[in-house]
Amino acid sequence: MNLAVRCQNLTKTYDTGGQIVTALNGINLDIPMGELMMLVGPSGCGKTTLISVIAGILDQDSGLCELFGENIQQFSSKEKLHFRARNIGFVFQTFNLLPALNAAENVAIPLIINGMNRHLAKRKAIDLLTQVGLGERWTSLPSQLSGGQQQRVAIARALIHNPRLIVCDEPTSALDHETGLNVMHLLKSVALQKDRSLVIVTHDARIFEFADQVAEMDDGHIINVKDASLRT
Ligand SMILES: Nc1ncnc2c1ncn2[C@@H]1O[C@H](COP(=O)(O)OP(=O)(O)OP(=O)(O)O)[C@@H](O)[C@H]1O
Ligand SMILES: [Mg+2]
Repeated sequence: MNLAVRCQNLTKTYDTGGQIVTALNGINLDIPMGELMMLVGPSGCGKTTLISVIAGILDQDSGLCELFGENIQQFSSKEKLHFRARNIGFVFQTFNLLPALNAAENVAIPLIINGMNRHLAKRKAIDLLTQVGLGERWTSLPSQLSGGQQQRVAIARALIHNPRLIVCDEPTSALDHETGLNVMHLLKSVALQKDRSLVIVTHDARIFEFADQVAEMDDGHIINVKDASLRT
């Protein structure tokens, strides 16, 4: 089986001025290519920390995290940035849109970083914004959009460069049921492409049906991985 992600005995602690918080306490997790894995667990159990390590945004303290067979921790910071720009799309829990750029410019960023000319990148961004129901709003700044609209801009930005791994932190938290389902259909259609994989952190039981596997986390550990296709 080809793996998109292999985590072995990952640990991560934070030092908050004297107090040590253990966020990851020996994580073992394999994510196959072409699958959508959901990651669930109580607030503070380490979900955001884990996906940040997987996406190369945070460094683990110990253990191994391989992406598509490569140990990106061994890369130089420039190589790491290049690898992330090509291979990873990330939807942050707090969206992290650039406030001075309009919706289309935000979505176009990954394409421009990867060398596409701005005009073409913007056209592609507007096309994708149309798919998430925001075609009419591409000139709006993030501050002029609702929370759910900003979330859809963030999702479009994570998909635009057709990355091999898409990592989403609560991607439907600000969306109504119907918009959430539309976004999940779009994300799932990406996961069904060969060699594309998704990891989605969620509390939203309405979207569990889209998962191939559900990994349950508690207190810095993966306590259970269920194959969702075995669900009755
Ligand atoms: N930058 C940080 N500095 C110090 N502690 C942190 C930091 N980020 C996270 N933590 C702590 O690490 C633990 C795991 O946090 P994390 O954000 O990964 O949890 P989570 O499962 O994503 O929670 P939520 O569902 O509320 O988003 C928590 O105890 C949190 O307080
Ligand atoms: Mg979180």
